Amino acid sequence: MLGLRVAFVGAALFTLGALPASAQEAEGERLYVESCASCHGDDGTGTEYGPPIDDAGEAAADFQLRTGRMPLADVDEQTMRKPPAFTPEEIEALVAYVGSLGSGPPIPELDPAAGDLVEGQELFVNNCAACHGATANGGAAGVGALAPGLYQALPLDIAEATITGPGEMPVFDFEEQELNAIVRYIGYLQEQDDPGGADIGGIGPVPEGFVGWAVGMLSLGLICYLIGSKAKTTPEQRS
Ligand code: HEC
Ligand code: HEC
Repeated sequence: MLGLRVAFVGAALFTLGALPASAQEAEGERLYVESCASCHGDDGTGTEYGPPIDDAGEAAADFQLRTGRMPLADVDEQTMRKPPAFTPEEIEALVAYVGSLGSGPPIPELDPAAGDLVEGQELFVNNCAACHGATANGGAAGVGALAPGLYQALPLDIAEATITGPGEMPVFDFEEQELNAIVRYIGYLQEQDDPGGADIGGIGPVPEGFVGWAVGMLSLGLICYLIGSKAKTTPEQRS
């Protein structure tokens, strides 16, 4: 009897599997009240600290949360890519909740392999290069904001940014085929050798900076050693 009941509860839990939509939205609402409402207001209607996001859509919420831009710690801070503050499940719940508030764009469906590389290049040159640079290595956006380099952006980040226009970036009304093309072209740029200048096996700016620093410190140390040993070898000259 007990065994049966355990089996039944087990089966019920198993069929629950992923949270049903309503439970997920409830969890999303709880996280929203805790981490977002102070700036974006109840139901996403906005406050003096943050814009309304009731019509931002799942695409904008997913982009902002997966790229760690939200939650913003400080209103004066420029939003930028950071490690995400939430787990993938929490992000899904928040995205579902924000999506339920209004009529923004859903997370786009992507198939970059189906995109046309030449069309992608054309779209990129005409719409993105002015701010992000011809090789997507970033630049001044001409609007007081920095357009980041695009080498860290995942295919979905690129598509979501394009249709939601984060920060000073404009919103682009691209169709699925155009999104596939532009994502494929940026992927192509990301694969090019040394797109952002000299690097050490593509391990990124932090280790590269460290190697530079280490080389500098070593040469300094060597110079100190040479000066020191020279002084030691000639003590009688000083007395
Ligand atoms: C007017 C300048 C401007 C144009 C044009 C522009 N962007 Fe942006 N883009 C920005 C700025 C500024 C940000 C940073 C926004 C933020 O952090 O809130 C950004 C962010 C992004 C990001 C996020 C990068 C990351 O690593 O998180 C992607 C991806 C992106 N843009 C792709 C594009 C694509 C694709 C196009 C062309 C269809 C484009 N952008 C056109 C200014 C621009
Ligand atoms: C300290 C205040 C603050 C907090 C907390 C905060 N935000 Fe934001 N949020 C902002 C500001 C300011 C912007 C506009 C940033 C910009 O345009 O560069 C923004 C932008 C956004 C956008 C983009 C809107 C659009 O139209 O593209 C979304 C989506 C968003 N926030 C969701 C959230 C979520 C979800 C949370 C909670 C996890 C959150 N934010 C927490 C201040 C905040």
